[in-house]
Amino acid sequence: MGGAKNSVLKLMAAALLATGETTVGNLPAISDVLIMHELLERLGCEVRESGDGIVDQVCINTPAVPMWEAPYELVRKIRGSICVLGPLLARTGRAKVALPGGDAIGSRPLDMHFAGLERMGAEVRVEHGYVLADAPELRGATIWLDFPSVGATENILTAAVLAKGTTVIDNAAREPEIVDLCQMLLSMGAEIGGVGSSTLEITGVEALAPTTHHAVADRIVAGTWAIAAVATRGDVTVLGADPAHLEIALDKLVRAGAAVDARADGFRIAMAERPRSFDVVTLPYPGLASDLQPQAIALLAVAEGTAMITENIFEARFMFCDEIARMGADVRTDGHHAVVRGRERLSGAPVRATDIRAGVGLVIAGLVADGVTEVAEVHHIDRGYVRFEETLRALGADVVRTQSATFGG
Ligand code: EPU
Repeated sequence: MGGAKNSVLKLMAAALLATGETTVGNLPAISDVLIMHELLERLGCEVRESGDGIVDQVCINTPAVPMWEAPYELVRKIRGSICVLGPLLARTGRAKVALPGGDAIGSRPLDMHFAGLERMGAEVRVEHGYVLADAPELRGATIWLDFPSVGATENILTAAVLAKGTTVIDNAAREPEIVDLCQMLLSMGAEIGGVGSSTLEITGVEALAPTTHHAVADRIVAGTWAIAAVATRGDVTVLGADPAHLEIALDKLVRAGAAVDARADGFRIAMAERPRSFDVVTLPYPGLASDLQPQAIALLAVAEGTAMITENIFEARFMFCDEIARMGADVRTDGHHAVVRGRERLSGAPVRATDIRAGVGLVIAGLVADGVTEVAEVHHIDRGYVRFEETLRALGADVVRTQSATFGG
């Protein structure tokens, strides 16, 4: 199990905070990492990866004065690139970062990022599709987030580590990926209190030093394999993942009838019979991750009983339901609720991945469907999963990648 996509992109951006060579290890070979690589090069860094092309490490050599413009053609490809805003502002006093634009899972505004940076003395405006931020001097401030936004917490945190004075982020996100970023910043010399809690207290320092950091394992990839194992009534051991980061998800799977065995180096999950339904409510960590919701719906589509899904993070994620309905799933949505009535089997059909998690959700559905399922636009899956179909084949699935990839049930 490689490092988490949603951590590694932020760790790479945090390398902008210190002059010299920072190394991030446990780097998954996913396409989002390549785009962040290119973006850092545009900002003046020298970037080189080494490893086996599955899990690598990246060395980022940051100049004393990085450039400060992140262009649209790179930012539009991954929303995660907005996380260069905080480090650039802290290092250069200015940043011009393209607005990432719309997304298949919802509108994803950046108002909390801007409000937080403005409270620290930055001037932020949006012009011609770019966020323009100026801050000759960032000052510590107390910032209350309306919602524990992952991205806003990260941008405020990475700006605050070099600001003058103390910043308090109240109602901060506390995902394991935020803890991972805090740990890397601490090893660079940052002063951060309350790591892992919803109140972060950051005292700015004069300068940070480059570091070497090993990224936290990807709990969403681990959770995807766990759900796939239960849906297909399999027996899978996931190595390198921390089951404590998946407590609620694994508890749901136990309620569905699975046997879960936590080990020092991961967990084993086995399912012998048809899973039983369970309800899902997505929430910020430690709640059940929205990034596991489509995969859970794929499982519930073949479970015994009826499930209620409440999506509290990205309402538009229910676009996935229209696709899985093409495979015979009995799913109805109303606002941010969905009701899934389980069926014995689904039936293979051509479907389309609209984002990473919808993509893997449709593959799981294809594995429990009669006949052939063709999932189009699987490049979304490559954004977050390393060698996905090879791993599935190794686990016994009948899967091939073609011009338009096919997944057999
Ligand atoms: N929000 C605002 N205003 C803001 C920021 C967020 O209204 O200024 C809203 C969003 O619209 C959303 C909610 O707050 O409804 C949560 O958004 P958050 O900022 O927490 O999410 P994010 O930083 O944009 C990251 C991950 C997502 C993951 C979410 C929630 C990255 C690159 N992306 O997004 O990952 O779903 O946190 O955990 O870290 C994925 O990997 O498939 C994915 C979408």
